[in-house]
Amino acid sequence: MWGTSPKKKTTDVAGARVAVLVSGRGSNLRALLGAARTWQGHIAVVISNVADAPALEIARAAGVETRVVAAIKGQPRADYDARLDAELRGLSIDWIVLAGFMRILSDGFVAAWPERIVNIHPSLLPAFAGLDPHQRAIDAGVRFAGCTVHLVEPGAVDGGRILDQRVVPVYPGDTAEHLAARVLVEEHDLYPSVIRGLLARSPAHR
Ligand code: GRF
Repeated sequence: MWGTSPKKKTTDVAGARVAVLVSGRGSNLRALLGAARTWQGHIAVVISNVADAPALEIARAAGVETRVVAAIKGQPRADYDARLDAELRGLSIDWIVLAGFMRILSDGFVAAWPERIVNIHPSLLPAFAGLDPHQRAIDAGVRFAGCTVHLVEPGAVDGGRILDQRVVPVYPGDTAEHLAARVLVEEHDLYPSVIRGLLARSPAHR
């Protein structure tokens, strides 16, 4: 059910084609867009499952193509993912960068893009995978929180090989909101630089 991508010209001077998947605010997308000129590749499309996601406006303002792949009520996850896969293949995408994309991708989809899907999570994985990581870190009494960029692999939400991390101290009396804001500053620096490194090592898929 998973597609194949059209053959690309070996003379593709623009380098790897990156798709950024978003659902909401888009602050990481903004950071990625700001840094993409230093990459051996470019953001070819921004795709959202949410039609009115503010992140789409950020992409449009930057002149980047946008697509909406909305969920259809009652549609199985694998069907949604097959539609997403078709969009990505049709655009000859090499890398899928998740930036606040609030859907879990099926194992079939993930397996069809081996070592080509990257995610950022606002905790020091493997601690506090899943929702609400900042409050859970505070509740656990940890002294250090942070963020993690990792490959997405079948079988684990917020799992997969860790590519890099940043550490942020948790202060006495910290709130989830304050901690999240400090972690976000690190996310915006870390994510674009990890993607730059990935593209430098492996500019294009085919
Ligand atoms: C970020 O905290 C990111 O780590 C997580 O979702 C949030 C997205 O924020 N995966 P934004 O849309 O990039 O502002």
